[in-house]
Amino acid sequence: MFVKKPPMGWNSWNTFTHAINEELIMQTADIMANEGYLEAGYEYLVIDDCWSERERDKNGNLVADHEKFPHGMKYVADYVHSKGLKFGMYSCDGILTCAGYPGSFGHEFEDAKYFAEVGVDYLKYDNCYKVASVPNTTTYQKMALALKASGRDIVFSACNWGTEDVHTWARSRGTDLFRSTGDIFNHFESMQNIADSQKDKLAFAGPGCYNDVDMLVVGMKPKTDESGAGVQGDGMTEGEQRYHFAWWCMVGSPLMMGCDLRDVSDEAKKLMLNKNLIRINQDIECRPPYMAGHKNAWFRNLSNNEYALGFFNDAEDGGWPPVSYLSFNEIGLTPNCGYGLELTDAFTGEKVGVFEHDFKVKVPGHDCAMYLAKVVKLS
Ligand code: GAL
Repeated sequence: MFVKKPPMGWNSWNTFTHAINEELIMQTADIMANEGYLEAGYEYLVIDDCWSERERDKNGNLVADHEKFPHGMKYVADYVHSKGLKFGMYSCDGILTCAGYPGSFGHEFEDAKYFAEVGVDYLKYDNCYKVASVPNTTTYQKMALALKASGRDIVFSACNWGTEDVHTWARSRGTDLFRSTGDIFNHFESMQNIADSQKDKLAFAGPGCYNDVDMLVVGMKPKTDESGAGVQGDGMTEGEQRYHFAWWCMVGSPLMMGCDLRDVSDEAKKLMLNKNLIRINQDIECRPPYMAGHKNAWFRNLSNNEYALGFFNDAEDGGWPPVSYLSFNEIGLTPNCGYGLELTDAFTGEKVGVFEHDFKVKVPGHDCAMYLAKVVKLS
């Protein structure tokens, strides 16, 4: 299907991994609908791996785990839909899913039919236990065909972690978004590695097929023991979370929240609901940003004579660069052209002013500054 903007929603994996159930999903649906998330654009509620029984039924069909989802998946889908949300599920192009549940290899058409009957609007399709002789170009094309043949509009979210040069064929094989990286963990280094890894591939995304740099860890609690559910990591500071969310918005990645929405700080909630950042992420033209002069200055053309300007500081506090800087020459606003940039702080919504030749800002380490900009005539 044609997906006009990067999908936004919530996914169960980052916080809950295998510990999912009907009650959690229904509570999350209530919160998404009642606490401003749906209104802000987060419309897909996606159940990741570990939702099914370990075996297919005697007819070869997938079956929901009887303990986690005692009323079956259609019941859950109906509830999610009743809240005005869209419903997502998960499968895998291998023999098994990554957590060892039945995968869709060899069952693509019947599984797509099952997902359509349940009322699925979004399918995340993973890549574990893949049959080595069949390339991803085939496995993803096959599921794209099966989803289309199912008779229901289903967003197709490919997840092969950036392998087999996915950015070069994801669009041609009918996927709507493609995971371009390995899994994110809940710490700055993981997030930063992911951000860095895609800097030369941002232009492969555009309307209808998006570069998915993985789900958000904003608002997640630290977790450093191996036991229990959720992905590992000792957490991120508020500045690091700002950097993380702003970068995902700047590059137009899908925004899939990964925290426990029942237990999220006010700061994290405010960040994920920030209208200016979401406006940048969801811009209808879906243009990628580019590095403007200095390594940490990024500029993006938006629709409606607006632009996004971001400064991302990778250094620890006090490290390079002490001041972030953009000479407007770098973006084509040459001296004496008669135009300057009017900047609005994307985090606070405050007008910062009109600038003629350049802009400087002190960005703390592991943090960022983000602006919405307009080109204005200087008086
Ligand atoms: C990984 C995938 C994760 C999650 C997990 C489930 O391959 O990258 O996002 O879906 O599998 O087992």
